[in-house]
Amino acid sequence: MIRVAKPEDAELLPALQRASVLAQCASVYSAVQLAEWAASFVPDSYRIMMDTRQMLVDEVEDGGGRVLRAFGVIDARHARINALYVAPAAAGKGVGRALLAALEAAPGASGVGELRLSATLNAVGFYEAHGYERCGATTHRLASGAELACESMRKVLGFGR
Ligand SMILES: CC(C)(COP(=O)(O)OP(=O)(O)OC[C@H]1O[C@@H](n2cnc3c(N)ncnc32)[C@H](O)[C@@H]1OP(=O)(O)O)[C@@H](O)C(=O)NCCC(=O)NCCS
Repeated sequence: MIRVAKPEDAELLPALQRASVLAQCASVYSAVQLAEWAASFVPDSYRIMMDTRQMLVDEVEDGGGRVLRAFGVIDARHARINALYVAPAAAGKGVGRALLAALEAAPGASGVGELRLSATLNAVGFYEAHGYERCGATTHRLASGAELACESMRKVLGFGR
């Protein structure tokens, strides 16, 4: 089930994002880069994102409890997708596709002509498969000052959906 994130989700999201990048971004970034990046995943940063943008989570029943499988963030005001992370155990099952579609349909997003994002290099193929096109190389600056090579991408809404 995809739903709007709640403040209490913030405690669970650092572990989800850490597992996601360590498992799925290791093919394109070094262990040092990934460790520096993951060190910035703290609950308060997710609370700020919830307050200032729209954050969605994918939640499922698992053994009587609720488990978060993925989260995504859209800043509709600036027409940007800021984040999309699927837990390794849920990868390859359509979770990312469903969450991306939900972000694109989020309140405010339907009014924008195009969405932009900065894709980690491992995720470029995923976004291309969902109607985004490459716009050129960019970087994501970490708190340490180190930079992750990324690809700037855009999608004209109404295409590829
Ligand atoms: C990229 C990511 C979100 C994809 O999520 P996912 O749930 O595994 O992807 P899905 O199962 O929904 O895949 C949907 C389709 O995209 C394709 N796809 C998924 N990842 C892909 C990739 N890296 N390259 C090319 N195609 C990809 C799948 O094959 C599938 O196509 P199909 O239906 O024709 O088989 C996930 O791998 C992830 O969280 N990666 C780490 C975090 C990250 O890099 N996020 C992006 C930050 S900008």
